[in-house]
Amino acid sequence: MRVDLGRGLALPNPVGLASGTAGYGFELRNLIDLDRLGALFTKGTTRLSRSGNAPPRVAETSGGGLLNSIGLQNPGVEWVATQYAPRFAEWRVPVVVNVAGENEADYVHCVRRLEGVAGVAGIELNISCPNIAHGMDFGRDAGAAARLVEAVRAVTVRHVMVKLSPNVTDIAAVARAVQDSGADSVSAVNTYVGMKIHRRSGRPVLPDGTGGLSGPAIQPLALAAVAAVRAAVTIPVVGVGGIVDAASANDFLLVGAQAVQVGTATFVDPNTALHVLQGITALRGAHTVSG
Ligand SMILES: Cc1cc2nc3c(=O)[nH]c(=O)nc-3n(C[C@H](O)[C@H](O)[C@H](O)COP(=O)(O)O)c2cc1C
Repeated sequence: MRVDLGRGLALPNPVGLASGTAGYGFELRNLIDLDRLGALFTKGTTRLSRSGNAPPRVAETSGGGLLNSIGLQNPGVEWVATQYAPRFAEWRVPVVVNVAGENEADYVHCVRRLEGVAGVAGIELNISCPNIAHGMDFGRDAGAAARLVEAVRAVTVRHVMVKLSPNVTDIAAVARAVQDSGADSVSAVNTYVGMKIHRRSGRPVLPDGTGGLSGPAIQPLALAAVAAVRAAVTIPVVGVGGIVDAASANDFLLVGAQAVQVGTATFVDPNTALHVLQGITALRGAHTVSG
């Protein structure tokens, strides 16, 4: 079940927890056996700590969707490097730190700060956050994304996975651009920009109007995006978006993803990723037996 994503990032199995839906793992560790999973992708981590957006920050939608506008609440990279990483180093599950920023210098600062820090298995560059100012600037522009990856590549020998935005005309073009500038893998997709109207007030439920849509509502969209990315690049692709069980996870593997991340479904049942892993293990066993 081991998945070698290259440049030092090998996952014990293909099922991870998606960024922002498992925090830094500390709370979830009390509920599930995190060490059985393939990877934990942390909450987006920024140069300075952020308290996030004003509430309400989440709203359920039809189709099993979840809209969120968290605004990258996190303790900042210094805290993650000095307080959290030593604890990650004691875990079996590889911890990939998801890094976000408003400009190139922010990203470079975070990645440089994490360089050589024990407990950090790799970097996931979030160029696709719809809930902060300039959060999607890099992900929407293939040239800007490429320059960012080049700048980050220059300060790390670690595995750099780039988290792609689906809120673009041509996700394949961005995937190709980041591959050509040194990304080791890509994860797809982040959330889709969405809106929910409060039926009584007639106004958006989320204070900023829009938020990021996730959950089963986006699974077919995410699958199409991953298939398009797979066709465009040769580096590993990690599929994420609307996975709720082994069958929906397997769809991503069938279109060519090397691994998957489980996000919103963890809020419904913290054991979802473990169930997905169990199901995929069984499916692989069945295929092996049947030849
Ligand atoms: C509450 C919430 C917070 C999120 N925070 C982040 C984040 O900090 N960085 C990031 O790259 N993606 C973030 N995401 C996006 C998820 O990692 C994932 O790409 C997306 O939700 C689609 O997967 P899902 O449908 O399985 O949730 C967040 C998603 C949710 C629901």
